[in-house]
Amino acid sequence: MVVIYPGSFDPVTYGHLDIIDRCSKKFDKVIVSILNNTSKKNMFTIEERVQLLEKVLEKYDNVEVDTFSGLLVDYARQKGCSTMIRGLRAVSDFEYEMQMALVNKKLVDDIETLFMVSRGRYAYLSSSIVKEVAIFGGDISCFVPEIVEKELRKKIKGGNE
Ligand code: COA
Repeated sequence: MVVIYPGSFDPVTYGHLDIIDRCSKKFDKVIVSILNNTSKKNMFTIEERVQLLEKVLEKYDNVEVDTFSGLLVDYARQKGCSTMIRGLRAVSDFEYEMQMALVNKKLVDDIETLFMVSRGRYAYLSSSIVKEVAIFGGDISCFVPEIVEKELRKKIKGGNE
């Protein structure tokens, strides 16, 4: 089975990578799909997010990185895939995730959203938290791979120049 793992990935964290790793073992193929959303203020451009994800996922034969804009269900149809994966970190994620899953199902009935529970050690992680800790000079090495940390530091330094 082919699954889509959609998100903003601004930037990718160990929390996302854990979900992708576990999906790669359960499904034939995982398409990591980055939302190219011009209205959201992202730190990394879509090209930078693609590059980072491709780099940190290069060891997987069955994981592909792609981008999409517009509705997730339309993109899924184009890809010929009807199964979405979303990670659930805490109860607080549930309401939003449920809403998205129900809207998607209303739009296209054969779309299925499967939830994978995050590992406890990543339950508190989010891309915004990582960016905030990095901006204030905190250690983010346990949150993101080295290459992401390096690029994040470059961005922050660039922004302060
Ligand atoms: N580990 C760590 N952090 C995680 C995580 C995990 N397993 N899963 C999610 N997160 C974090 C992300 O880092 C992100 O953090 P941030 O808000 O600080 O940036 C946050 O949770 C949101 O996650 P993300 O998966 O990127 O969701 P999103 O809300 O940005 O995007 C889409 C979700 C892309 C699936 C959704 O917006 C979408 O489908 N958009 C297309 C338009 C559409 O079809 N709309 C109709 C459906 S409602």
